[in-house]
Amino acid sequence: FIPPSTGNAGSGVTAKDALGNDIIVSEYLTEHPSGDRSLAQGLKGDPTYVVVKGEGEIANYGINAVCTHLGCVVPWNGNENKFICPCHGSQYNETGKVVRGPAPLSLALAKAEVQDDKLVFSEWTETDFRTGEKPYWA
Ligand code: FES
Repeated sequence: FIPPSTGNAGSGVTAKDALGNDIIVSEYLTEHPSGDRSLAQGLKGDPTYVVVKGEGEIANYGINAVCTHLGCVVPWNGNENKFICPCHGSQYNETGKVVRGPAPLSLALAKAEVQDDKLVFSEWTETDFRTGEKPYWA
């Protein structure tokens, strides 16, 4: 299922790297292998993980790194295949679904689209595919 465009791409932001430069997808994929989850600057400046899928493509979602407990930025732990919050130990699986508290909710999603070799984040307003529920953040 590919959700139809809502036509609000104008509200999107171009993902930026740590230096504040636009992420160029073709270059990015040469440095970030399958399974990689690295931080970019996303919507409202929130740190957001760019997900590289198994096929070496960027996933159609980014994962907001702000812990739903008290707002620490949650690092990715590739060995454990989880996001593990250093503040109070909450854990999220590889899609950002909460698997251990105290965090009450999964990490928020952003829609990620490649446009002209740039990565554009916009609001994720569709069903949260991890829970089958409406997004709590929208
Ligand atoms: Fe992440 Fe408390 S802020 S577990």
